[in-house]
Amino acid sequence: MKTIAVLHASQLVTLAGPRRPRVNEEMSELAIIPNGGMLIHDDKIGRVGPSEEIERNSDGAKIIDVGGRIVLPGFVDAHTHLVFAGNRLDDFERRIRGENYEQIAKAGGGIWSTVEKTRSATATDLFEQAKKHAEWFLKCGTTTVEAKSGYGLTVNDELKVLGVMRRLKDDMPLEIVPTFLGAHAVPRGMSTDEYVDLVINEMLPRVAAEKLAEFCDVFCERGYFDIAQSRKTLSAAKKLGLKLRGHVDQLSNSAGANLMAELGATTADHLEKTDKNGFAAMRLAGVQPVLLPGSVYALGSTAYPGAREMIESGLSVVLATDFNPGSSPTSSMPMVLSLACAQMKMSPAEAITASTINAAYSLNRGDTIGSLEPEKLANFATFDCEDYRELAYWFGISLTHAVYVRGNRVV
Ligand code: NIG
Ligand code: FE
Repeated sequence: MKTIAVLHASQLVTLAGPRRPRVNEEMSELAIIPNGGMLIHDDKIGRVGPSEEIERNSDGAKIIDVGGRIVLPGFVDAHTHLVFAGNRLDDFERRIRGENYEQIAKAGGGIWSTVEKTRSATATDLFEQAKKHAEWFLKCGTTTVEAKSGYGLTVNDELKVLGVMRRLKDDMPLEIVPTFLGAHAVPRGMSTDEYVDLVINEMLPRVAAEKLAEFCDVFCERGYFDIAQSRKTLSAAKKLGLKLRGHVDQLSNSAGANLMAELGATTADHLEKTDKNGFAAMRLAGVQPVLLPGSVYALGSTAYPGAREMIESGLSVVLATDFNPGSSPTSSMPMVLSLACAQMKMSPAEAITASTINAAYSLNRGDTIGSLEPEKLANFATFDCEDYRELAYWFGISLTHAVYVRGNRVV
């Protein structure tokens, strides 16, 4: 057995606490151990405590002195579009000139332009680009990401993208949780209903049979999939044993949050336009909100989701990057923390909880990652600061010092 002793963290931010998603004031409790340390046996955490205590029990261990830096669980990014080809620099400039998301899509940009590039890319090209994205995540201190398909939109291309994720999972230290998002946009030359039938009758059965995804997602939005089409798609996925997530109420309020509650989804994501009624339905059904301030920022909007209202109504809030080439080209969870605090008035502690332990629960992995507690995987990051609040305070600066996945240094 390989043993490592991590010593002298100015703050060991453990997030130890109840074994469930954190709500209300619990989101502010980080269970910090000042001058903390940790013993790691192979890929798991054996013990956490004050540095002197860990040192006393470190016979034969390899010592890692983090020199007064902070140590946190690796970030868990519960909403990304990791695999795609190319970029959307033209959309970026159009947006700067004043066109909005829907106008850009109509003019030939938007999701569709990434679909065309992703379809013509080989699995090898996609793998190479995704590998670069995966490295960006690790460099920002993220050790687990959820990753959505959705830029293929044919049976073969969706399977190609999900296959790339599977290969990435085997080849890279970044942990990947795959989600099938066939209902991301409607391919040219097809009606939405025809495409929904294709997703339900041909894509979903293959995805489920080949165990290519744990979750199913839809883009429930005006001009994409309406409530009835989203319900039909997600219900079919649920019957096949997939868990549910959804892009809802991003650009308009179509009561998407209520639909996710009705279906017993794990998460409802975006929620920029959701009202009180939607929050109440989510709370009753135990749906976790996944907030994506990076996409609000990059789209040049100021309509951030109502994080305070959600926390105060008892929802177990999650923060994620929404990494994608169109609306949120960032893999940086520290940037998301900055936006969450400065723009959505979450406290730094709430933002850390939302991007670690709550995110882990939203991916069905609350028992193995998201906090530094005995028996959990040794996935953690050290940053060049002394106080965890600095992560949300300094922005646009990379503070990552080292990143470990399952006890191995990867950055
Ligand atoms: O989460 N809203 C839909 N999907 C992505 C955007 C994808 C794209 O523009 O390529 C999102 O914002
Ligand atoms: Fe998204």
